[in-house]
Amino acid sequence: MKTISIRKLENTDIEALLAFEIRNREWFESQIDARDPSFYSSQGVAAHIECYLADFARGTWHPFVIEDSIAGIVGRANLKSIHSPKGAAEVGYRIDQRFCGQGLATLALQHLIREARMHWQLTQLFAHVYKDNVGSRKVLERCGFLLEHESWIDETKDECRFILSI
Ligand SMILES: CC(C)(COP(=O)(O)OP(=O)(O)OC[C@H]1O[C@@H](n2cnc3c(N)ncnc32)[C@H](O)[C@@H]1OP(=O)(O)O)[C@@H](O)C(=O)NCCC(=O)NCCS
Repeated sequence: MKTISIRKLENTDIEALLAFEIRNREWFESQIDARDPSFYSSQGVAAHIECYLADFARGTWHPFVIEDSIAGIVGRANLKSIHSPKGAAEVGYRIDQRFCGQGLATLALQHLIREARMHWQLTQLFAHVYKDNVGSRKVLERCGFLLEHESWIDETKDECRFILSI
């Protein structure tokens, strides 16, 4: 029986993470900002993981992978820009296109909220989302995030902001 687990990103994840990101590059770039092309190599991903783990050690970032017991890495979720004095952080997530629509982003965001509260003692989370990213907005609303009205009506911006008080 296959199972899904969520765990911290590790420096042994280089090849699995590279495969996940290459497999889904076009899909992600259709909905979120593209990564620098130099990311898409073993060296690029190794440097990326090293940077995230250094930020974890500094207490400013908490990177997770979502793992399927058969398919391997099928998603990523991050607590980003953790600001302990303010008790705030940003959330981010991305799911393998073949695994979308099965509740994985919702599961990952619930995990981020739990970690933000229990591990980091944060009181506020926020997310920036492109206004036309209907799936991501649905995930945020389902997890209790509220749309910041001003960011929605600002016609000069493609993105809006969601906030959760925890
Ligand atoms: C957005 C994303 C994370 C959602 O992942 P997911 O695992 O499919 O999310 P969930 O299954 O938990 O929930 C998504 C919900 O949105 C719905 N949805 C997705 N796209 C939709 C669309 N275009 N229109 C209407 N509903 C949509 C799904 O049906 C689902 O709702 P349901 O459970 O009621 O059926 C995924 O599409 C993704 O990785 N996209 C690329 C990266 C990205 O946009 N990240 C977020 C940046 S803010």
